[in-house]
Amino acid sequence: MKRASMKFWAVALATIVVTTAAQAGDTIKVGFLVEMTGTFSDFGQHIVNGATAYIQQHGDTVAGKKIVLIVRDTTGPAPEVAKRLAQELIVKDEVDFIVGFGLTPNALAVAPIVTEARKPTIIMNAATSVITTKSPYIVRVSFTLAQVTEPMAEWAYKNGVRKVYTLVADYGPGNDAEKTFKAAFTKLGGEIVGSVRVPLQNPEFGPFVQRIKDAKPEAVFAFVPAGELAVGLMKSYRERGLAKEGIRLLCTGDVTDDGVIDALGDSALGVISTHQYSMAHDSPENKAFLAAYAKVDTKLRPNFMAVAGWDGMAAIYEVARQLKGDIDPDKAMQVLRGLKLDSPRGPIQIDADTRDIVQDVYVREVKKVGDHLYNVEFDKFVAVKDPGK
Ligand code: DHB
Repeated sequence: MKRASMKFWAVALATIVVTTAAQAGDTIKVGFLVEMTGTFSDFGQHIVNGATAYIQQHGDTVAGKKIVLIVRDTTGPAPEVAKRLAQELIVKDEVDFIVGFGLTPNALAVAPIVTEARKPTIIMNAATSVITTKSPYIVRVSFTLAQVTEPMAEWAYKNGVRKVYTLVADYGPGNDAEKTFKAAFTKLGGEIVGSVRVPLQNPEFGPFVQRIKDAKPEAVFAFVPAGELAVGLMKSYRERGLAKEGIRLLCTGDVTDDGVIDALGDSALGVISTHQYSMAHDSPENKAFLAAYAKVDTKLRPNFMAVAGWDGMAAIYEVARQLKGDIDPDKAMQVLRGLKLDSPRGPIQIDADTRDIVQDVYVREVKKVGDHLYNVEFDKFVAVKDPGK
């Protein structure tokens, strides 16, 4: 009798587990940790828009599973908020993937949590080199600052620039950009005549830019996060008359970000940048992406973060197809390592060893095409790995 009832409970328990698994098994849940409010609210909107554009193009079902997006707002660079939301996504929402991360501090904060939970995590922007080394469950589909900065240093030297002042935002990606530019440029024979780091929150660019003007370099190399900070930097560059003094602005594409480039105005014309994506990229994949994106958001111009959102979803669909809808974390990571995709930016690949992205880096010039400003690509460095590893 005792034996029989134990057997009954064993069967009943198994049934409950199977039923729960079957219900959860109808979906693939993707938890987004993104900045949706505050100074960096554009980041989350770009990323979620890009992911939604992918679903718009490819349907919301893959390998028989419905894709469910769960979006959580980190509110800005807020490691403690990011950690709490990551835990909720894992424990309460039982997501299959954690994705997003406009900002480095949020990505670094959740690395131990996703490691512990064995949760495949896709970085769709945060660009400090070290992030992917912090967890074997992290892959990056965006870029690193070192990856786009080294080509800028080489391009500058090759084009006769010898004396440069650097200006970066004072945190992970800015420090990587400064370090990489200095190393690459001085190795070629160039000179760094000064360096300044500006705060990430509410920087007053005027006095920093004036100091640069007074030092009379041939060019400024700059990185600040895309969006409001980029607009602030361009405004000071114009107001303090650096262009009139013949001081060129060389930067990573964050500064001439497609999302705000029209707000930069004509003072941005002629600015040279290096980056992985431009709206003006001429390919069938980009045309299809832009058409899908336009159905999702007609106000915000898509930028590199939107494309990374799109690519992150492409990666998830590929994992789902290869695993026939059953998302085992370690098998998912195996698919992601070495994955190749045809991105709207061009061909991309995830390095199997570092789980970081390998991609072409374009040299671009801000030009007016019709009524709008664009980063028009005119040269490229092929299949660039992160030199920061
Ligand atoms: C970060 C990197 C960027 O390139 C950018 O534009 C904004 C933020 C980051 O890693 O925090």
